Amino acid sequence: MRKLVVATSNPGKLPEMQQYLKGLDWQLQLKPPELDVVETELTFAANARLKAITVAKALGEWAIADDSGLVVEALQGAPGIYSARYGKTDSERIARVLRELGEESHRRAQFVCVLAVAAPDGSIIAQSQGVCEGEILNSPRGTQGFGYDPIFYVVQYRQTFAQMSPELKQRVSHRGLAFTQLLSQL
Ligand code: IMP
Repeated sequence: MRKLVVATSNPGKLPEMQQYLKGLDWQLQLKPPELDVVETELTFAANARLKAITVAKALGEWAIADDSGLVVEALQGAPGIYSARYGKTDSERIARVLRELGEESHRRAQFVCVLAVAAPDGSIIAQSQGVCEGEILNSPRGTQGFGYDPIFYVVQYRQTFAQMSPELKQRVSHRGLAFTQLLSQL
């Protein structure tokens, strides 16, 4: 079975990726913690590629990386690639987005996820992007999920990500869409 190293320091991403990639004959494994990759690039795609390439070359193994975040139109795309760094905790990050949006009526936003798979020589062999459209609510709603889920409302389902069952979120989310596309390339 081929080994695929998950290029993230977040151990929570391993079971999630295992779930999405369960149809494939790959054995997923978390990258060693001492191999740290700083996200220095300015787009989701460039950061995902950087993480996959760096880890693949350092270990001489196949590697998969993702980069994702929330893009709020009225905030000129913020928090974007800085989503994880927009505050110290999830609630501080949510509070900051709500404060910066204030009474703004244009509340459209997208969640974006880019996935990249690198071969042991560092060449990118597959890359995909998933986008989920939504709106930023005035206050949080729902208790499931993580991150900005409670303020991201998906009009089609009349629910925030934090109100959705894990199965529904997996199907409609930016990450779910990106994995579906990636699977067709592998
Ligand atoms: P990454 O781990 O560098 O990709 O960080 C992405 C950041 O974007 C996370 O820390 C969250 O703040 C946010 N984010 C990405 N995907 C989601 C999601 O599905 N729900 C809520 N927040 C998300």
